[in-house]
Amino acid sequence: MFDPVEKLKEFVRFPSVSTDSKYRDGMRGAQEFVTGLLRSLGFAVEVVKTDLHPIILAQRDGPATWPHVIIYGHYDVQPPDPLGLWKTPPFEPTERDGRLWGRGTADNKGPLMAHISAVGRLLEKAPSLPLRITFLIEGEEETGSPSFLPFLQRYQHRLDGDFVFLSDTGIPREDQMVITCGLRGLTLCEVEVTGARMDLHSGLHGGVLRNPIQALSELCASLHTPDGRVNIPGFYDCVLEVEPWEREELRKLGTSEAEYREFLGIPAFHAPPGFTPFEAVRFLPTLEFNGIRGGYQGEGSKTVIPSQASVKISCRLVPDQTPRKIRPLLYAAIRERLPKDVSYRIIDQHDATPYIVVPPGRSNTPKDQPARLAQAFRAIDAAAGEVFGRPPLYLREGGSVPIIADIKRVLGLDSVLLGLFLPEDNLHAPNESFNLQVMQKGSTVSERMLSALAGR
Ligand code: BES
Ligand code: MN
Repeated sequence: MFDPVEKLKEFVRFPSVSTDSKYRDGMRGAQEFVTGLLRSLGFAVEVVKTDLHPIILAQRDGPATWPHVIIYGHYDVQPPDPLGLWKTPPFEPTERDGRLWGRGTADNKGPLMAHISAVGRLLEKAPSLPLRITFLIEGEEETGSPSFLPFLQRYQHRLDGDFVFLSDTGIPREDQMVITCGLRGLTLCEVEVTGARMDLHSGLHGGVLRNPIQALSELCASLHTPDGRVNIPGFYDCVLEVEPWEREELRKLGTSEAEYREFLGIPAFHAPPGFTPFEAVRFLPTLEFNGIRGGYQGEGSKTVIPSQASVKISCRLVPDQTPRKIRPLLYAAIRERLPKDVSYRIIDQHDATPYIVVPPGRSNTPKDQPARLAQAFRAIDAAAGEVFGRPPLYLREGGSVPIIADIKRVLGLDSVLLGLFLPEDNLHAPNESFNLQVMQKGSTVSERMLSALAGR
């Protein structure tokens, strides 16, 4: 068997940034690395072409009576910028303080390696293990997975699994496992407001027209109420009631509000009434401004009335909201609230549907679950309890993994999400790292769950 940490270092050395075409070689390198690794474990690998970055489909086939687990991961990473803030270069993985530092170590190369190495050990010990395994590893997760849905529809016949298994979500502390049982969704857009057809001298023309920065700012300011709720009619209509067991589970987190506040470095929280900050992140939808632009940004001053201003907006959605319901509400608010003396354009960006899967025995209103999914939940609960010395928590997550709801819709399959990254892992930020002990323990949990599924 290969050494998972050494393999992870090799993997991280490929700068596989999916959003930026200057990293094309890194994307190809990472794809070929994963392909080679899975072939070396005996998998039949197909590299499926897409418009952007190929999807790796690797299968260990067997009789239809064997359980079939689909393991998902992504080989692409976020851009490393701002480069100057990294203590060691992002694509030169460095081991320090029990962690591996580098872009993609936590999101998602380390967690993916935990599962690949689990499968490697399992098949080494039991070469004829009665378990069908499919690895489905994409290269466009960080750009919104544009090729994934068409792929699912085209390859549906090869994806007759019992459930999907992945680690692309978090845990609160290194000794506390989490089985993620919900994900927020997303809907994103950009609003571009135009005033005059060119930038104007504010002495020659100031006072006769509305400044697009002002129009845009007033729009932005109107989108929340002072208590922190989103101020769009109907926005909360489909938000699922939080069940008492979910709040109870969250209370076991063990982080205090003060600790969380200090971690963020803010003087006070600003969460909607009736929800703790921990609850707000996991159970409530949001509307955020991700970037705003307009006018002169250079040194010194410039007396100008800019022609344009724009803002990037994203809404995190929770079950049972959907982008199809929320996007029109957002757009209607923008249209109604922007003054008629400016022109504007709304540019659509991608969507993700929120997801929820209730593990057996948890809900007030339990639904029937396929036997093998229920078996997987029980097996992972037991394995996580043994390996980490305490039972896992069942929590919804604030982040989004858009393909999970697509998989549910197209293939009808639920996902077992084993959280593995920590708050201090710096996902999407400089100095990303992954706790190697968590990786090793997570890999053991994965191995035990898969083994139990195969009846061992
Ligand atoms: N691994 C993350 C999702 C995640 C983040 C889960 C934080 C739990 C906590 C994933 O790679 C990611 O970053 N997703 C994006 C969505 C995508 C469309 C860019 C996200 O959540 O912003
Ligand atoms: Mn990820």
